[in-house]
Amino acid sequence: MQKIHDKILVVDDERFIRTTLAQALHSWNYETIEAASVAEALKVFQEEEIGIVLLDIDLPDGSGIDILNEIKAQSPETIAVMITGNVDVKNTIAALRGGAHDFIGKPVRLEELRVTLRNALETRQLRREVKIARKAQAVKFGFDQIIGESEPMKKAIELARRVAVSDVGSILLQGETGTGKDLFARAIHYASDRATSPYLAINCAALPATLIESELFGYEKGAFTDAKSRKEGLFEQAQGGTIFLDEIGEMELALQAKLLRVLEEGSFRRVGGLRDLPLNVRIIAASNQNLKKNGEEGTFRLDLYYRLSVIQVDIPALRERGDDCLMLAQFYIDKANQKRNGRKLRGLSPEVARLFKNYNWIGNVRELRNLIERASILEDGEFVTSAHLPADLWKDKVSETGNGAAIKLPPEGIAMETVEIELARQALERCGGNLTHAAKLLHISRDQLRYRLKKSGDGEIEDVE
Ligand SMILES: Nc1ncnc2c1ncn2[C@@H]1O[C@H](COP(=O)(O)OP(=O)(O)OP(=O)(O)O)[C@@H](O)[C@H]1O
Ligand SMILES: [Mg+2]
Repeated sequence: MQKIHDKILVVDDERFIRTTLAQALHSWNYETIEAASVAEALKVFQEEEIGIVLLDIDLPDGSGIDILNEIKAQSPETIAVMITGNVDVKNTIAALRGGAHDFIGKPVRLEELRVTLRNALETRQLRREVKIARKAQAVKFGFDQIIGESEPMKKAIELARRVAVSDVGSILLQGETGTGKDLFARAIHYASDRATSPYLAINCAALPATLIESELFGYEKGAFTDAKSRKEGLFEQAQGGTIFLDEIGEMELALQAKLLRVLEEGSFRRVGGLRDLPLNVRIIAASNQNLKKNGEEGTFRLDLYYRLSVIQVDIPALRERGDDCLMLAQFYIDKANQKRNGRKLRGLSPEVARLFKNYNWIGNVRELRNLIERASILEDGEFVTSAHLPADLWKDKVSETGNGAAIKLPPEGIAMETVEIELARQALERCGGNLTHAAKLLHISRDQLRYRLKKSGDGEIEDVE
């Protein structure tokens, strides 16, 4: 019934109590070990895996509280139940601080012990499950899940990794929509020593300011008409963890001022509260806007911006990430294959790969993900071809600075000469007819340009110099 590592350690200096307890425990199928002193208990603890410990407080060579502290330091999951002869407030407080799970009075009533143990085991099981789930979360949301090997991306990840393990209290993530701010925020949380505490997110654009305030700060009973009872806010619920303030650019100015105060003072008050409570959460704020610019225009508090931007991680737009879009495309293709068993899309066609590298990606990774999801459903062949991609992809959204990206080979082909002349015309137009400047734009000499124009018989183009 019980697992082998749920052994119960019974610590009491009175042999009679130890044996009575041990007998009862055996009859309920628990495996037990006995210890009569602090030293003995700690020795057993070093050698065996103990699930639950029943601890007498007064021992010949010290206090059960010492054992409790030692055990909790080494193995926080082990459950300690204190057995107390008399109610001593000082000891009770010390035991609670030390993380005791429960208390049982002497003389021990066996039925009470049985119920207490059942609860204790349940708690232990829950703790274990939480721990396993958190570990899985940490893997699921870790930095390793962030795809990208381009220089700007490597830099952003490196900075975020370093910030994650530091003790900074607030971080600002800036990046266009779909660049992965959510992803970064979680990765920072799960890579930090806050990982075992909660990660809570709130979207500042989705709720009215008063609601955000009561969500964050909590409120006292009677603070406003609907405050029927006290409510803990996210600042309290996330104790020890991280709060993600998404779209902070949308937060109302008055609330920004309150947030700034919280960050400056390291404490907050519930709405309607009189007491300052310590803030023990890390704030990660995110925005897809340029908050500094907003600050200068008066729509964001500059003082809050400066406070938040002490540590600012700029997540590059996808169009600045070179070949990352190809890696991401492959990632989403593999994912689509997994989702549709037996589907075997191998990758992008060379043409699509080229298009991807030059595309503007206004929606960044989210846009790419959606695009691949769609193509993977519609595509029958082995490769994602342009047939099932939206026409935008090779139309005007193409980045203007994207080295020659705007030139596309028409389906019916085109004479090289025509292209040359067309480009020469455009260059001259842009430079107001100045041959030297136009030649520079075309990466040829002034004489070469003049020669080509002459050869094409384009007499009407005249040199303005
Ligand atoms: N580098 C990346 N590697 C893998 N997946 C990514 C990457 N960047 C973004 N994604 C995925 O793209 C989608 C959008 O990312 P995310 O929601 O984090 O963007 P965001 O910056 O928060 O956007 P918004 O400003 O619109 O809230 C998510 O599905 C996310 O998992
Ligand atoms: Mg987001």
